[in-house]
Amino acid sequence: MKILVIGGGGREHALVWKMAQSPLVEKIFCAPGNPGMNGLAETVHLAVDNIDGLCDFAQQHFIDLTVVGPELPLTLGIVDRFKVEGLAIFGPSKAAAQIEGSKGFSKDLMAKYGIKTAAYASFSDREAAAAYIRDQGAPIVVKVDGLAAGKGVILAQTEQEAIDAVDDILVKKAFGDAGDAVVIEEFLTGEEASFFAFTDGKNILPLASAQDHKQIFDGDKGPNTGGMGAYSPAPVVTDVLYDRIVKEVVQPTIDGMAAEGCPYCGILFIGLMIENDDFKVLEYNARFGDPEAQPLLSRMKSDVVPVLLDCARGELTTKALEWHDRAAVCVVMASGGYPGDYAKGDVINGLDAANAIDGVRVFHAGTALKDGKIVTAGGRVLGVTGWGDDVAAAIKKAYEGVAKISWNGAQIRTDIGQKALNR
Ligand code: AMP
Ligand code: GLY
Repeated sequence: MKILVIGGGGREHALVWKMAQSPLVEKIFCAPGNPGMNGLAETVHLAVDNIDGLCDFAQQHFIDLTVVGPELPLTLGIVDRFKVEGLAIFGPSKAAAQIEGSKGFSKDLMAKYGIKTAAYASFSDREAAAAYIRDQGAPIVVKVDGLAAGKGVILAQTEQEAIDAVDDILVKKAFGDAGDAVVIEEFLTGEEASFFAFTDGKNILPLASAQDHKQIFDGDKGPNTGGMGAYSPAPVVTDVLYDRIVKEVVQPTIDGMAAEGCPYCGILFIGLMIENDDFKVLEYNARFGDPEAQPLLSRMKSDVVPVLLDCARGELTTKALEWHDRAAVCVVMASGGYPGDYAKGDVINGLDAANAIDGVRVFHAGTALKDGKIVTAGGRVLGVTGWGDDVAAAIKKAYEGVAKISWNGAQIRTDIGQKALNR
């Protein structure tokens, strides 16, 4: 079969790498893709939000399955559009993608279906929001209702900081229409984990546990990023918690979405805060995590293609996924200055040497091909993924790969996976 993957990051490179191993796959296209996919997929010069262009491409090339990586095309309704044209596509509809696209929607869903989350209230009025903040006290969390490219969550240490954030969002419109409303919620403490499940809208197929490292600097210091590294399995998710998350979060969420008239198909990403062997849901995303996809797909033994196809068809029959016993760790190499401004166009050295190490795979994200050389082209540039018998061995492999690679100003965290070892 012929597959079209939409996206161009490390997540999509990992998806392409995994799908290319399937005996069912004859050809993979990726739009826009990245140079790391060379030899695995043919890249297509179409942006992820060019829904018309992507739909035409899928028709002209007789694509059997389209797999959507990032949230933007989902919230623009790419799945609805493809389905109208009779094209098979993996991902949630526009209505179901609200689970990520609107914090208010997701919080109300959790409240209605008894899914544990931080106490909250939604506001579109500045005075009412400020009164709620004064009443609750700090620290407190202010969230932009709509999509804000990962910048829409303010962890306010004081009431004034929270009220200023509300002013920026509701009055100064710093996030445009995405900030027509804010969610204000209880500040949670604990350790975060990322939980994923494939679903056809009724049946669920949970993945192995994983954890991301959101902050830019070691020790979880500094501003949040898209993710500086991830690993799987994550021991913070004990077997008992794993079963409870499936029963108390995944299933009621999928049942709730169906009951609301917007059944959720695709992969559901649940961000959790875990403390004292208990948990609350921080957020949902309507897509696979990046960089969590890199270690998870590196560990997945089952062929992922039939699962994606079944979810797209609305008939998920696989009862359990098989996993390699190994652990996997992905260390993100980012451009200097990220998540702020950064340079582009620096030549990256050592990619072949890193890929030549047994148990190391370099997934590309922000890279480009210039004069026959691979150069930096984004904030998160590479996801160097290593695997081994346990997390300690996988960490060693990943950093062995990192040590081979260099460019001007590359930055990494040196403590990816350490939280697993500290348990
Ligand atoms: P979100 O986009 O809602 O996942 O928020 C981004 C990040 O902000 C999360 O990964 C957490 O690190 C942090 N965060 C979000 N909500 C809360 C909360 N209620 N309490 C503490 N931290 C939070
Ligand atoms: N790694 C977090 C995310 O994909 O949003």
